[in-house]
Amino acid sequence: MHGLIFVTWEKYIAERFGDSLLHNYRAAVGETTATAPLASRIYDDATLIAGVQALCKLSGVPANTLLREYGRYFIMNGLTSHLCAYFLTRVHSGRELLLIMREGHQQMRRTPDGITPPLFRYEALPNDPQGILLIYDSPRKLCPVLYGAIEGAGERYSEQVRVIERTCMKHGADACRFEVHFRPIIHQPQDRFIQHWQQERIQQQRARQYIADVILALLPASDGITMNTLQERLQATPVVPIEQIRPRIIFEALRHLQYAGLITSTANQPGDILTQRKFWRVPTQDQDQDQNQDNGNDQMQSMPPVTSPRLTRRLSERKRDEHEESFTGLSDVQPEVSAPGKQETGSLLLKYRQQRDGIPRDGTP
Ligand code: HEM
Repeated sequence: MHGLIFVTWEKYIAERFGDSLLHNYRAAVGETTATAPLASRIYDDATLIAGVQALCKLSGVPANTLLREYGRYFIMNGLTSHLCAYFLTRVHSGRELLLIMREGHQQMRRTPDGITPPLFRYEALPNDPQGILLIYDSPRKLCPVLYGAIEGAGERYSEQVRVIERTCMKHGADACRFEVHFRPIIHQPQDRFIQHWQQERIQQQRARQYIADVILALLPASDGITMNTLQERLQATPVVPIEQIRPRIIFEALRHLQYAGLITSTANQPGDILTQRKFWRVPTQDQDQDQNQDNGNDQMQSMPPVTSPRLTRRLSERKRDEHEESFTGLSDVQPEVSAPGKQETGSLLLKYRQQRDGIPRDGTP
């Protein structure tokens, strides 16, 4: 399992139970400074199971409660918010986040790391157009983590969530079915300072998304390039303001793309050093994809390959001073008003993919 899960698990332990319990936990699982988890590595599932058992014993809290709290924490904490910004800043509600995470998790599966995040299926709820039935059948049976992550998804976007687990694999069902209802929390009008601060934050997020999209378009599909070469390519691309082409900003964008499963690198190869590390794109379609066979969610199979040549051409046609204008429309995936289901999920995902691949909403090249 991905190292981000292990790093955030230990952060959860420290914040929930304090540093001294984390210290005892590390001793119980035989962890040393040298073996402390890293977000860039992959670990055995058995290590997580052993960790959950150790924490149960030390804290006296049942495993299901710990896992549910952790699921919520995973979606809400600062590290996930930062590293998974590619997904988290492109949606505006818990429901949208749940809807894009099948695709998001699926993309992560295509990386050479061999990770297997869960692929959700969705159904409409007849009596609640803003609700959703989420179907989960991961062999890991981490449904308490999913329960908490759904709660976190609502909380992240200031919504109340009601979750009912209709069926559960742990009780013999073929899949866990979660009925999820979201309700927005009505806010008091905010003072102008907070409004201004929020607008600034949104601008910053859009600027970061824009840089990440440009970088994605400039990276090759194989035979990776170093950050230096990427920086040169960015400088030759007249759509990014020169002051934004700094190593720190490029590195952050690369990290976000990597956690979204859209690019990979030589980071885990022996002798890796940052200046010589190479980055390249991960395919956005499975090699042997069968359009008609994937849990019935055929709308989600039509993901186009990353359109680097087209986007690169469009980018090179734009002038640098049009950059401000190009920020508009990059990040506002709006929820549909119709009942959810395949049709809606497909259309939301199409908008998401168009944003990611830099294709205008009307689909014109
Ligand atoms: C509300 C949204 C999300 C839900 C409900 C969700 C749910 C889950 C669940 C239940 C697992 C446990 C693995 C399993 O059951 O097989 C998991 C794993 C994982 N998730 Fe998500 N997730 C969400 C968002 C995200 C985001 C935003 C990221 C950021 C990149 C992310 C990255 C991962 C990773 C890396 C794993 C480990 C997978 C592995 O190593 O095989 N998830 N997710």
